[in-house]
Amino acid sequence: MEAVLVREQTRRAGGNRAAGAGHPVASNWGTVPGRSDNQGPGVGESPVRVSALEHPMVLAALSRMASTGAWQHIVDGKPLSEDIDLVEAELLVAAGAIRPVTDDTFQVAVDDPMYTNPQALADWSQYQLRRAFQHATGQSTAWGSEDPETILSFGRASGRGADVIADLLLPQLPMVAPAFAAGRAFFLDVGVGVAAISIRLLERYPGTRAVGLDVLPDVLKLAEAEVARGALSASIELRMQSVAELRDQDQYDLAWFPQPFVPRPAFLAGVHNVFRALKPGGAMVLPVAIPAVASEFARARAVHSAFLAGGSAITISELAEILQAAGLVDLVEHPFHTQRLLTATKPPLAKR
Ligand SMILES: C[S@@+](CC[C@H](N)C(=O)[O-])C[C@H]1O[C@@H](n2cnc3c(N)ncnc32)[C@H](O)[C@@H]1O
Repeated sequence: MEAVLVREQTRRAGGNRAAGAGHPVASNWGTVPGRSDNQGPGVGESPVRVSALEHPMVLAALSRMASTGAWQHIVDGKPLSEDIDLVEAELLVAAGAIRPVTDDTFQVAVDDPMYTNPQALADWSQYQLRRAFQHATGQSTAWGSEDPETILSFGRASGRGADVIADLLLPQLPMVAPAFAAGRAFFLDVGVGVAAISIRLLERYPGTRAVGLDVLPDVLKLAEAEVARGALSASIELRMQSVAELRDQDQYDLAWFPQPFVPRPAFLAGVHNVFRALKPGGAMVLPVAIPAVASEFARARAVHSAFLAGGSAITISELAEILQAAGLVDLVEHPFHTQRLLTATKPPLAKR
């Protein structure tokens, strides 16, 4: 197979690892499986730690502490006093979620902003637990078949995607960032769900408008209520439309396209449709389910998770080929904690 050259942004994670931020590293995605550094952040460092953070009682402890205020104490460096908090803190230290500072004060040890936001952490942990329970009891975990609370928990947790766009991606997308800064950007939210990403992005960039696509009427009803609650009904258009049916042209500055949730045929058609819908110079952001090779567990976990999410895992070389065949250029990987994120750009007119 012909090599596909893309750039991988050096990890921006905190601590010493931030030192290399902003220096793209040339890498050959065609040979990714053989690369020693082909590991999602966290995953490569310790697959065991990742699985400990996913343990049901660790998730339960995170959710409880996030809901009761104990987690906020940890974030603020304040002491814990309740026995249950101290016992759970011991569990969370062992799981790698926090580290001790004194006997009763701790600090967050996971390099992911979600862990400093108790509400997001509670939403995320509860979503994982609910989903696991549904799966365990033979209920479908397909998006939309879950109860509204689960959908809202996950949807709201996914809203942090907007912060990732704002804080990590826009600074690296000079053809797109000015439109957001000027409050005149047009955002396409594929798989809008309960619209958490659009809502958060519009809160951060007033004046921005968005179109959200989804295929599930019940989920779109939840989205309508969320959008109305944020007084954003005039700025966010919710459409009952598959990305495979999108016909818009040259409209959007930025499109969010979550590959793991979209069935493969719709994803393949969608890549072309979203490409057409972007303005020249506009960019696509793709959270992707790429099976890590750091460990057999991490790989199998990614495949299993994408299958349950309604989409499928995809190799980086396959993905790069699909995006390039559609006309996208400048494919860049932005590792973000355990999430793999890609950006790809529609060439500006002069270069097409
Ligand atoms: C992870 S969920 C959405 C999370 C979202 N950020 C939120 O705030 O709720 C992914 C969404 O993609 C939608 N989806 C799946 N296939 C789709 C398709 N072909 N076109 C548009 N949306 C699709 C699902 O129905 C689901 O609502």
